[in-house]
Amino acid sequence: MVKDMRPFTVLGIETSCDETAAAVVAGRPPGPGKILSNVVLSQLEEHRPYGGVVPEIAARAHVETVDEVIEAALAGADIPLEGVDAIAATAGPGLIGGVMVGLTTAKALALAAGKPLIAVNHLEAHALSARLSETVEFPFLLLLISGGHCQLLAASDVGRYRLYGTTIDDAVGEAFDKAAKLLGLSYPGGPAIEALATQGDARRFDLPRPMLGREGADFSLSGLKTATRQIAQTQFLDARCKADLAAGFQAAVVDVLIDRSRSAMHRYLEEFRSGKRFVVAGGVAANRRIRDALVALCREEGFDPKFAPPALCTDNAAMVAWAGVERLALGWLDGLDAAPRARWPLQEARAAGV
Ligand code: KG4
Ligand code: ZN
Repeated sequence: MVKDMRPFTVLGIETSCDETAAAVVAGRPPGPGKILSNVVLSQLEEHRPYGGVVPEIAARAHVETVDEVIEAALAGADIPLEGVDAIAATAGPGLIGGVMVGLTTAKALALAAGKPLIAVNHLEAHALSARLSETVEFPFLLLLISGGHCQLLAASDVGRYRLYGTTIDDAVGEAFDKAAKLLGLSYPGGPAIEALATQGDARRFDLPRPMLGREGADFSLSGLKTATRQIAQTQFLDARCKADLAAGFQAAVVDVLIDRSRSAMHRYLEEFRSGKRFVVAGGVAANRRIRDALVALCREEGFDPKFAPPALCTDNAAMVAWAGVERLALGWLDGLDAAPRARWPLQEARAAGV
């Protein structure tokens, strides 16, 4: 019997935070996949005045734009809805109002077109994004650093993740955003701090590196944020001072990420004899200083670093469509009763029914 090796074509929908996104991706595991279209409509301008994402504004904006974003993705791929093999949507974790918009839209389309639905975990979509852009075999160690998440996980297969460490307070991107706000920089804070830090002296301020040297791979960033706030409120924040504080903050984050990742690498090597691959995903992975430091760490520890391209690091629907491809290949489909979830740990492989 000849196995059907036709690529799967999946429409992906992403609405869990402040990006309304839709994409069409074709391919088969282990990848890479082909991105036929990738439309991302950012709500940055809507949230900018508040210095962070406002859930109510986000949900409303998703409702207003999701239809046209999906249409644009299908048109960009030059494929009618009937031409896709499945419809994948982020079902969590995320801001529940937004998740409901995307998932409900996906259910309606699946029902209307008679296509299978795949309820995707947003974190798994980030985790598998490296396989979309290049062939990355399982297992691998994953560092997921975004605005909402900060985790180290061992990925042994699709749907099989073991949590090594997570943040006990703020996520890395969130810490960047809060520090940026203290410095009067615009949202999102990560790119703004990175740009300013290039002009600063990272050694001027002695900022804490929480959890450094501790056993395990958990993170804590609130102490660093508090220390940054104290300096920002007691110093005269001229341009020099702001740049030095941005550089100091970023250097502290780098040290924390390296220390925690190294600890996770050591545990990973005890549990997996082969597969020294280190995948970095999430919006913060776009940071050049962080990338360079993680590549140097990989060199020291003998790991092969794998970064998704920056456009696939930040929230997008191509990664959701690709997670759909991976699950479709395993026959893991979801019913129309799949429930949107504000919280959905990666260790739970399937979306829950309503
Ligand atoms: O993955 P993402 O787009 O959305 C979430 O799922 O959270 O990540 C957004 C986060 C924001 O907190 C943003 O400040 C941060 O990623 N970020 C960066 C950089 N670019 C984006 N942080 C540090 N340096 C950057 N260059
Ligand atoms: Zn994300």
